[in-house]
Amino acid sequence: MSTWANLGLQDSASPLMEQLIFFHDHALLILVMITVLVGYLMFMLFFNNYVNRFLLHGQLIEMIWTILPAIILLFIALPSLRLLYLLDEINEPSVTLKSIGHQWYWSYEYSDFNNIEFDSYMIPTNELSTDGFRLLDVDNRIVLPMNSQIRILVTAADVIHSWTIPALGVKVDGTPGRLNQTNFFINRPGLFYGQCSEICGANHSFMPIVIESVPVNYFIKWISSNNS
Ligand code: CUA
Repeated sequence: MSTWANLGLQDSASPLMEQLIFFHDHALLILVMITVLVGYLMFMLFFNNYVNRFLLHGQLIEMIWTILPAIILLFIALPSLRLLYLLDEINEPSVTLKSIGHQWYWSYEYSDFNNIEFDSYMIPTNELSTDGFRLLDVDNRIVLPMNSQIRILVTAADVIHSWTIPALGVKVDGTPGRLNQTNFFINRPGLFYGQCSEICGANHSFMPIVIESVPVNYFIKWISSNNS
């Protein structure tokens, strides 16, 4: 999760988020190079007193500064498209989790396992334990196995919500009457926090998401303890 002075992206907990961070850094590098070059040229113009009285056209330079930006854009567009298709790939998920957005909480269903279902509410500040995170912790966490392909199905019961976990690179809108699908692979154990990111009403800020990523045998224990 993000803590003080963490202004960039969170550390990735999935291969897709790792790729997203690589792409972000790549695009930022190109952006910085262009900004520095154009900034330098514009700054230097203030100190230039020379004027070329015979300059009417320059087809070569115009050809260069039209085609060069187009090529630079390709170097951003192609990796971006690669990521876009990679994010949509479903690779034989071993667990499917359904999350339903409500005003203002999430509810979850593990349809593979005897239909375990529960609501997940934010813990109000006055009921928070000393090690809890304000506006971020919930009463019932999602438990998911690490190192497994996980599919999530997202929908909503009232208005549009958005199921968003920054560390996993997941952001899917939950829309009433529709069922959206995405998948991820958590590559380390831990707690991963997220929040709703569609402006869904008065308590939009107060419907966080918490994933407890555990080894597979712990997950099986958790599933069987819920079945009995
Ligand atoms: Cu639900 Cu914002």
